[in-house]
Amino acid sequence: MKASVSIGDRIELLRKELDEHNYRYYVLAQPTISDREFDIKIKELESLEAKYPEFASSYSPTSRVSGEPTKLFPPATHAIPMLSLANTYNKEEVFEFERRINDLLGHSPKDGYTCELKFDGVAMSLTYENGKLVRGATRGDGVTGDDVTQNVRTIRAIPLAIREAKKYSHLKFEVRGEVFMNLEGFRKMNAEREELGEPPFANPRNSTAGTLKTLDSKEVAKRPLSFTAYQLQFIGKEELDLQTQTSRLEFLKELGFPISQYTRHVKSIDEVMDFAMKWQEERDSLPFEIDGAVIKVNSLREQDELGKVTKSPRWAIAYKFEARQAKTILNDITLQVGRMGTITPVAELEPVALTGITIRRATLHNSDEIERKDIRIGDTVIIERGGDVIPKVAGVVHAKRPKGSKPFHYPKNCPACDSPLIHPEGEVNWYCENPECSPQVVARITHFAARGAMDIAGLGEQSVEQFVRAGFLTTIDDIYTLDDKKETLLALERMGEKKLENLFAGIEKSKTQPPEKLLFGLGIRHVGTNIAKLLIRAFGSIDVVAEASLEQIDEVEAIGPEIASSVYQYFRNPKIKPILEKLKGRGLPFSGEKIKRDVIELEFFKGKTFVLTGTLSTMSRDEAKDKIEARGGKATGSVSKKTDYVLAGVEAGSKLEKANELGVRVLTEEEFLKEL
Ligand code: IVH
Repeated sequence: MKASVSIGDRIELLRKELDEHNYRYYVLAQPTISDREFDIKIKELESLEAKYPEFASSYSPTSRVSGEPTKLFPPATHAIPMLSLANTYNKEEVFEFERRINDLLGHSPKDGYTCELKFDGVAMSLTYENGKLVRGATRGDGVTGDDVTQNVRTIRAIPLAIREAKKYSHLKFEVRGEVFMNLEGFRKMNAEREELGEPPFANPRNSTAGTLKTLDSKEVAKRPLSFTAYQLQFIGKEELDLQTQTSRLEFLKELGFPISQYTRHVKSIDEVMDFAMKWQEERDSLPFEIDGAVIKVNSLREQDELGKVTKSPRWAIAYKFEARQAKTILNDITLQVGRMGTITPVAELEPVALTGITIRRATLHNSDEIERKDIRIGDTVIIERGGDVIPKVAGVVHAKRPKGSKPFHYPKNCPACDSPLIHPEGEVNWYCENPECSPQVVARITHFAARGAMDIAGLGEQSVEQFVRAGFLTTIDDIYTLDDKKETLLALERMGEKKLENLFAGIEKSKTQPPEKLLFGLGIRHVGTNIAKLLIRAFGSIDVVAEASLEQIDEVEAIGPEIASSVYQYFRNPKIKPILEKLKGRGLPFSGEKIKRDVIELEFFKGKTFVLTGTLSTMSRDEAKDKIEARGGKATGSVSKKTDYVLAGVEAGSKLEKANELGVRVLTEEEFLKEL
């Protein structure tokens, strides 16, 4: 720490940083640092706070289990708080754990330890009553998480009803475990996403977290999610006499829950270490990602006796594995221009083998990162591969730095079009703001034509590149005048009559896409398929979205201020407006009328405004919305005097209160079903 920075400032800075990382990890599901780096920062903050109690704050990220409910889903309060595990990184810390346990118990654990793999996914709490799954909830802040029951119900590894449901119908219990994605499923899914024009997920864990937050359960059902159970807790009055972790796992298996086949029951801490070392070595042989081992005192009586500290039990720890690293030479730093003009520095490496693949390139994230780590061309660098698809440069071996090397100077101009790069206040990225910059144009048009957007067959990245280079395409609107230039197009390489006719047919067909696909295709920052759907659902047409005020966009359920502002700004961009006008003139699907939805009006629903709140037991909220709209009604996000009905499911929150306050009629699910 520099002497000029006061302790108070350092603490404040760490808190800010950690809050931001928490948000990226839990809410955006896009972390930018590794768990280990996060832990190091948390530990630094914890030790500073312990040393300087005058700076204590109940709002510090150290004072809670990380995470926040997202507000996209109804809140779910846990019957028993969901704790997290203290992390250890070496043998000494594991031995320290054993010593503490022996001291507290006065003897070593009578029933030894269980050694489990630490699955790298998302923790899930499943509640069963009468033998049936009644709720699935994420951890959130440990006390309250998101109710994601509808999504969880689509995961086939999770039993909707337990085996022997009759025999155990008197039990109310909670199963905790990890939702995760197998590597094979993950890779397939990412390939699919790229084809659809959606950004690929960095790793299976992000993709699991992102999937669980998806609002459309039908989408969730298509994703290859899996589950492994690692904890059983009784929450009713009735309990079974199962006094060890191993017997509970066996019982879970009997009830139909997948449990890990790799769990071992051992006597001594040396065997614990053997287990941890074995899997540290052999983790790549598993069909899923793990990031460590979990060690638990097997006896539940002893677990109770040991109890917990604020956020984690004393009877269990995680042993986190070392990141997988290799050293190599950094030959060059090149810059990539993304679809939004974001400049990403890329490390061009002397090829090196790591975890079975040869690595030639790695991400350097941004200019700050290069500066902070003082990464220079010619350096020997440490390459790290977490579960991430893209390896990264973790650090520099300073001792091996060649003489005379100079710090890397970030260019002031775009590597592709030479226009000056912009560094917006408070952002880590540099941007090329020239809309005509060719890699951006290519990426934008490719995205527009991708399968998840306008789905224009024959307009993949290579063709787009060819057309852009030859000057036929500069904006998305140019796609729709390509057929005027047929003769000149025929002169291009690898271009034939048949191919062009197919392309023109594909272009024509794209005009019948629903407006949400067009909206997604425009490539507005933060507007993925989900958000595009929500916007069209809320406003009916792109025209209305374009006219909407910032507040109106912000009011749409699940749309936060950052997304709202991005959408709002986009439609006020003077360069965008004329392009959109032209597209509209060509008959592209701007208005909701183009949605070919069979509306059969029902008196009860016709022209009425509905607001949905809470969880429904027979359908997701999306499905309920569809059903309302298919009968001539409208579903909106917030309750006002204009609302005709509030449909309230289980655990309905503030919207129900508001409805009662305003005297809006409240429908139960049963009443709603009757009207359907
Ligand atoms: S036990 C109080 N067992 O690791 C004990 N956790 O911070 C609670 N995890 O949130 C967790 N594999 O998401 C346990 N075999 C395992 C696990 C496991 C993965 C995750 C879980 C938890 C985090 C620990």
